[in-house]
Amino acid sequence: VGGRMRPVSPSELSLHNTQNDAWLAIRGRVYNITHYLPYHPGGPEELMRGAGMDATELFDKVHPWVNYDSLLAKCLVGPLSYDRPDAD
Ligand code: HEM
Repeated sequence: VGGRMRPVSPSELSLHNTQNDAWLAIRGRVYNITHYLPYHPGGPEELMRGAGMDATELFDKVHPWVNYDSLLAKCLVGPLSYDRPDAD
């Protein structure tokens, strides 16, 4: 499992902002939420508000009690990385 983890830059994250390819970051972890969208209790449109970005503030405004890291364990892409230049 760990072998596929890799750092994601903010600009790479920002490319994944459609319903067919949606990533978001919460507290420094990037998740591929594409397959979770249909299961989000608040609906896919609400969840898409955080797509392609650091959605920590948005998430905490709505439901800080939700255990996203456990729900999205299989969707973890890797750490959000600000400490190197974007390649794209
Ligand atoms: C519920 C929005 C991210 C899991 C909700 C609800 C809203 C919402 C409005 C309330 C639905 C209702 O009661 O009718 C958002 C927004 C997100 C976001 C704007 C953008 C960051 C996430 C993530 C997860 C998640 C990343 C976890 C993988 C849940 C769960 C509930 C819920 C479990 C039900 C919570 C409860 O009833 O206590 N969401 N959500 N959401 N969301 Fe999200």
